[in-house]
Parts: sequence; structure tokens; C-alpha cells
Amino acid sequence: MPAVADAGSLSGAVPPAGAERGEAGATRVELRRVSKRFGEGAVGARGVSLAFPAGRMVALFGPSGSGKTTVLHMVGLLMAPDEGEIWLEGTRVDGLSERASAAVRRRSLGFVFQSFGLVPLLTAEENVMVALRLLGIGGERARERTREALEVVDLGHRAGHRPAEMSGGEQQRVALARALVHTPRVLLADEPTGELDTATGAYVLDLLRRTARDGAAVVVATHDPAALEVVDTAYFMRDGEVHEPDRAELELWLTEGEGGLADR
Ligand SMILES: Nc1ncnc2c1ncn2[C@@H]1O[C@H](COP(=O)(O)OP(=O)(O)OP(=O)(O)O)[C@@H](O)[C@H]1O
Ligand SMILES: [Mg+2]
Repeated sequence: MPAVADAGSLSGAVPPAGAERGEAGATRVELRRVSKRFGEGAVGARGVSLAFPAGRMVALFGPSGSGKTTVLHMVGLLMAPDEGEIWLEGTRVDGLSERASAAVRRRSLGFVFQSFGLVPLLTAEENVMVALRLLGIGGERARERTREALEVVDLGHRAGHRPAEMSGGEQQRVALARALVHTPRVLLADEPTGELDTATGAYVLDLLRRTARDGAAVVVATHDPAALEVVDTAYFMRDGEVHEPDRAELELWLTEGEGGLADR
């Protein structure tokens, strides 16, 4: 796996973090005392307060069922909290209509979820371009940005292939290209390296790191010890609550705690 390609809008001469999209460190998304329960007593989130800053990469660690995906889904306006508030750049967004939420998602958010979410009948290029079409960007401009995004994930040569003709790692990188092509202000990634070999996983983490450096608030839910090395802040979830572990605790949990990686 080559180093991350030095092409496209995600790299180049390194601007100060967040220079292009607001001040680095400024809070981009904030959860205020957010709770979410499901049927039969399952708890997704319990009084969660978190701030995700521009230009920073934040990880949510925690055992299976601890609420990581629930938090990402709420930040992504895919699920409404039972209690609490969600703010995106100074606007409260948790009470928006489905239509308004969808507009916020298209414009400001990027998603990389575990199942990739690629459309089987579309080529890699078409899958990426969909994100721009939804924003009303078409024609040569869309094609060029799509080409750039695919080059950034080192898949320029696979643009014409459909998901079934690609490896899991390649599909994950197409999903990343699609999430990045509209330069989202917030990038949400759920287990982005879960199914990948070490080298591809490192590549994907590096890309997420660069996306943060370019100014996005990047939030990753993960069990991957390698993520600990690249994130700015690591939180730990348990039973829907967020903790701020010290690094040694987290390392211990990641390497041996509770069956750690083995419980997946
Ligand atoms: N749609 C749902 N309906 C009912 N219960 C749910 C739903 N989504 C999540 N849960 C429950 O909420 C809790 C938190 O789930 P969540 O998916 O957020 O965990 P997670 O930390 O992402 O776990 P994993 O590491 O396995 O992905 C679990 O008890 C889960 O069973
Ligand atoms: Mg999950």
C-alpha cells in the first residue's frame, strides 16, 4: 500500500489546521446531555456531553453495545435523541424535520459506515459522484472532483469498477472518497478499519487524519488500537456513558481488557 497520494484537495501545501473551513479547535458539533434509549431497556446514550472541534480527530472507543454507533447516528442526524441537544456550528439541529436533516447531512456531513453503503449497480466513480449530484453539482466539475477524490484514496485506476469487483479495502476507500468529495465539515466514521488488513487500515487512518488537518471535525468509532496513535482525543464509552480515560488505561483495554478485540 503506497503512502497517501499527494493529490487533490485533501493534501498539498499544508495549511494551518482548519484554515479553509473555520478556526481549528472551534467547536463544530456539540452534544449536550444527550440520552437515547431503545426498547427492552437497551441504552444507547446516557447524558452524553461531547464537543467535536474543527481540525481535530476524535475517537470513541468502548466495548460492543456501549453506544458508539448510537452517538454517531445522532450526530449524523440519522436518529433523534430522547433528551438533550445537538448543535452544529451554533445551530440547534436535533429537532429538525426529516427534510431539513437530510439537507444538513448532504451539505455538511460525511459518512463512512461499516457496510460501505455503496450502490452495487454503480461504478466507483458513479458511487462517488452521487454525493455531488445530491448537492446539485454535475457535469465536468463533478467529474473532476470525483476523479480527484478517487485519486486521493489511490483508486483512480479503478473508477470504472463496480463494488462487487473490488476488495473490501477498495470498497472502503470508495466509501471514503464519496464521504470526502464534498469536503464535509464533519466526517463520521464507524469502524472504518474494522474489516481491513493492517496496511489498508493504516492508509485509511492516515486519510482521516489528513481530513482533520484540512479542517473537518473527524469522529471515529473504533476498536482499532492503531487509531489511538493518530487521534487527538480518545473517549471511552461504557453503557452509554462517555469517559475520558488516560492513555495507559486505554492501551491496556485495547490490548487485553475484556477480551478487547476478541469480543467482536
Ligand atoms: N435500533 C436499535 N434498536 C434497539 N436497540 C438498539 C438499536 N441500536 C442500538 N441498540 C442497542 O443500544 C446499545 C448501543 O448500541 P450501539 O450500536 O450504539 O453500540 P456500539 O458501541 O456501536 O457497539 P459495536 O461496537 O458492537 O458496534 C446496545 O445495547 C444495542 O443493542
Ligand atoms: Mg457500532
